[in-house]
Amino acid sequence: MRSSPNRGFASDNAAGIHPRLLDAILQANEGHALAYGEDPFTARALSAFERTFGEGTKAFLVFNGTAANVLALQCLVRPHEAVLCASHAHIQVDECGAPERFLGSKLIPIATGQDGKLTPELIERQLRGIGDQHRVQPRAISISQTTEVGTVYRPEEIRALSSLARSRGLLLHMDGARLSNAAAALGVALAEASLGCGVDALSFGGTKIGLLAGEAVVLRDGAGEAASELRFQRKQAMQLASKMRFVSAQFEALLSGELWKEIALHANAMAALLAEKARSVPGVRVSRPVEANAVFALLPSRSVEEARREHFFHVVAELPEQGLSEARWMTAFDTRPDEIEAFVARLRELLAAER
Ligand SMILES: Cc1ncc(COP(=O)(O)O)c(C=O)c1O
Repeated sequence: MRSSPNRGFASDNAAGIHPRLLDAILQANEGHALAYGEDPFTARALSAFERTFGEGTKAFLVFNGTAANVLALQCLVRPHEAVLCASHAHIQVDECGAPERFLGSKLIPIATGQDGKLTPELIERQLRGIGDQHRVQPRAISISQTTEVGTVYRPEEIRALSSLARSRGLLLHMDGARLSNAAAALGVALAEASLGCGVDALSFGGTKIGLLAGEAVVLRDGAGEAASELRFQRKQAMQLASKMRFVSAQFEALLSGELWKEIALHANAMAALLAEKARSVPGVRVSRPVEANAVFALLPSRSVEEARREHFFHVVAELPEQGLSEARWMTAFDTRPDEIEAFVARLRELLAAER
């Protein structure tokens, strides 16, 4: 087990449960309710999902993001078909091969630019061997919103991918583990940064925005057979919660008002503040566009251990020739300006001592 201080910039899922979401769990803890989603909390949560993502869309609640991705992709591909994704996509590098195991399908990783985004041009280059029985058949494109480097796909960028998909017989999946942060950054509704732009299957993140646990697969209107089969696939994938009311109560609280937006705007603002302060420290270089709740920065490798003693964070890359490490600093609903001040002051001190 890695020991880390109790506050820091490790990840938004290192934060606790948002108090209003915890309160929703407590409110749901009255008396009995039927299991497996046959309860009023789930009925209300599913209505909130349909209001949020559009009439006819269908949501399926699960425990975690890896399962949401696997189940969403299961609606789109068969074993001889492949998923095109960024080479650093969570499904490619951080899910222990779960998609390959459970889908039986190949993932085709694609190198992106600094912004971490897939583009129609990058996809086009992979569309080879279609119809050739010796070749795996590209069938789904998977994008992450926000991307793994903290950038945000604009609606027109998603629409461009979706229209390429339509014209080439492909389907579009979005890993929306941080869709709330993306939509808040764009100033649009959740649907406008996802399903409304032609996404066929969405993994919608709950945990990183403050739930105890809970993610959802949301299928577009008209998903037909995929939607009717997903109930069975979820159970077979061991993701049907018996006490579903507690997952549902959190989603109801997140989506019924604008709590998702409130939390995301705060986390995003804290990342912007952190980036602004960090840029003023000689020796620190913010290395990626800061668009939501993540800041990536290069700093001297020698300072890293000490820098993260008080405020833990992850290092995502090493550049040994330059003696630099790339850090990822993430903010959450509970990140405070004074923590940022203290962290940046410590960085300034450490880097000054090195000069
Ligand atoms: C982009 C992305 N997708 C999905 C997930 C969800 O993964 P988990 O299975 O840990 O809930 C994460 C979590 O780190 C993530 O960053």
